[in-house]
Amino acid sequence: KGHEGGFNNEGPRSRGSNFSGSEVQTQGKGAALEGGEPVANDAINLERRVGLLSGIALIVGTMIGSGIFVSPKGVLERTGSVGLSLVIWAGCGVLSLMGALCYVELGCLLPSSGAEHTYFLTAFGHLPAFLFAWVSIILLKPAMLAIICLSFSKYLVEAFVSQCEPPLQAIRLLGALTIVVITFINCYSVKLATKVQNIFTAAKLLAIMIIVIGGVVKLIQGNTQYLDNGFEGSTDNFGNIATAFYSGLWAYDGWNNLNYVTEELKKPYTNLPRAIIIGLPLVTVCYLMVNVSYLAVMSKDELLASETVAVTFGNRVLGWAAFLMPLAVTLSTFGAANGTAFTSGRLCFVAAREGHMVDALSFVHVRKLTPSPALIFNAVIALMMVIPSDIGSLIDFFSFTAWIFYGGAMAALLLMRYTKKDEPRPYKVPIIIPIIVLIVSVYLVIGPIIDDPQIEYLYATSFIIAGLFFYFPLVHYKKTLPGMGHLTTLIQMILEVVPTDVMPD
Ligand code: ARG
Repeated sequence: KGHEGGFNNEGPRSRGSNFSGSEVQTQGKGAALEGGEPVANDAINLERRVGLLSGIALIVGTMIGSGIFVSPKGVLERTGSVGLSLVIWAGCGVLSLMGALCYVELGCLLPSSGAEHTYFLTAFGHLPAFLFAWVSIILLKPAMLAIICLSFSKYLVEAFVSQCEPPLQAIRLLGALTIVVITFINCYSVKLATKVQNIFTAAKLLAIMIIVIGGVVKLIQGNTQYLDNGFEGSTDNFGNIATAFYSGLWAYDGWNNLNYVTEELKKPYTNLPRAIIIGLPLVTVCYLMVNVSYLAVMSKDELLASETVAVTFGNRVLGWAAFLMPLAVTLSTFGAANGTAFTSGRLCFVAAREGHMVDALSFVHVRKLTPSPALIFNAVIALMMVIPSDIGSLIDFFSFTAWIFYGGAMAALLLMRYTKKDEPRPYKVPIIIPIIVLIVSVYLVIGPIIDDPQIEYLYATSFIIAGLFFYFPLVHYKKTLPGMGHLTTLIQMILEVVPTDVMPD
C-alpha cells in the first residue's frame, strides 16, 4: 500500500527535507500491511493498539469535552431563540456527521495517520500540507489543549472555592499541571492513555445520562414553559448564524480525531467507519437531549446569565447531589484533554516524518513506543498558551481556522476522485456530501469576515502566510538550522528516542 503519505519505503530522512541533517541510527525491520491489515513484528514503530471501543472513545471522548457544558450560552446568545438554537445544535451535528463520513472515505483511501496532513500532501502537494502542519502544530492543537485544560481547572477550582471568585493564578497553575500530567500519561504508555480515554468517556456518558434523565423528569412534571415560545426573537443576521455555528461546532469538534491515528488502529478499514458511524450520532443525540434538559429547568434569560450552565442545572435539579455536576465536567474535560494530546502528538509525529518539522519530533521511545518528543513539544506550546486569554475569542478564532482546513479536506476528497480514480475505496461517500460540506465551510469562513471583520481573523490568516517564510528555506530547499544535529542527538539521549522504521511497499 504505497503512496506519498506514510507507508513509504523510503526512510523519513531520505524523503522530505530536513531541519536537522544529523546522522541517526534506525533499528529493526519494517512493519507490513498485508491484505490491508497489519502484521505484527518487532520493528520500532507505533503499534496498532487502538481497537473499536478505544476508537469510539477517542472520538466520543474528545468531542464531549467542555463545549456541551459551556457553549449552549454562546449559541443561544447569537441565535436569539430557543428554537433556532436547537436547530443550530442539530445542524452542527449533521454537518459534523457529513464531514466525518467524508473522512471515512479519506481515511480508508489513505490509511496513514495525520489526517488532513496526509490528505493535503497526497492531493495538493507539500506546501499546503506544510502550512496545515505549521498552523495546527504551532497554534491550533496546543491552543485546544490549553483551552480544555483551563476549563478543567476552572471547574475544579470552583468546586473547592464556591464562596468567592476563584483565583485566576490557581486556575492557570492547575491548568498547566494538567497538561504536564496528561503528557506524562501519553509518553508513558499508549495502553494507559487509551485506558484513561475509555474510562473517562464512560464517566462522561454517565454524566450526560444524569442530565438527560433529570431533564426528562422535569418535562414529564410539566416544565415545558421555557420551550414553548420556540422561535420568538430569532436572529435573521447571517453573520450571527455563522458565529452561532462556531460555538456549537467547538462542542462537536474532534469528529476527525481517529483519522490522526489510523496507523495505530486495529483493522482500520472496518473500525474507522464503525467508530464514526456509532460515535457521531451518539454525540449528536446526547447534545440535543442535554440542551433540551437545560431548557427544562431554566429560561432563556437564566441560561444566558449562567457562566456554567451545567452547574446551574445541577443546583436546581440534583439537590444534595449537585456536586456531581462540576465533578462530571472535570472528568469530561480531563478525558477530552487526554484525547486531544494523544491525537495532536500523532499529527506532529507524522508531519516531522514527512520532513515538515524537525526530525526529532518523528522519533519514538525505544521501549515504550510512544511519540514522546512530539507529545512534549505540543505540551510545551500549550503551556505557553495558558496565559491570560479570553476563552470565547480563542474558540471563535479556533473554529475559523479549523474550518479552512476541513473545507480543504473536502476539496482534497473531490480532487482525488479524479486524480486517484481507480484506487480502491473501501467506502465511498455520496459525492453530494463533500460538496455540501465544502460550501458550508466556505460560508463559515467568509460569513463572519464580511459581516463583522475581527482582527483575530487577520491574525489567523497572517499566521498561515508566515509559514511560507519557513517553508521555502527549511522544507523546500532543505537548509539545515545551525546546531540542529547536536540538538537532535541530545534529544535522542535524554528522551531515549529513535527514528521509526517505515512501512515497506
Ligand atoms: N469538542 C471538545 C469540547 O467540547 C473540544 C475538542 C477539541 N478538538 C480536538 N480535535 N481535540 O471541549
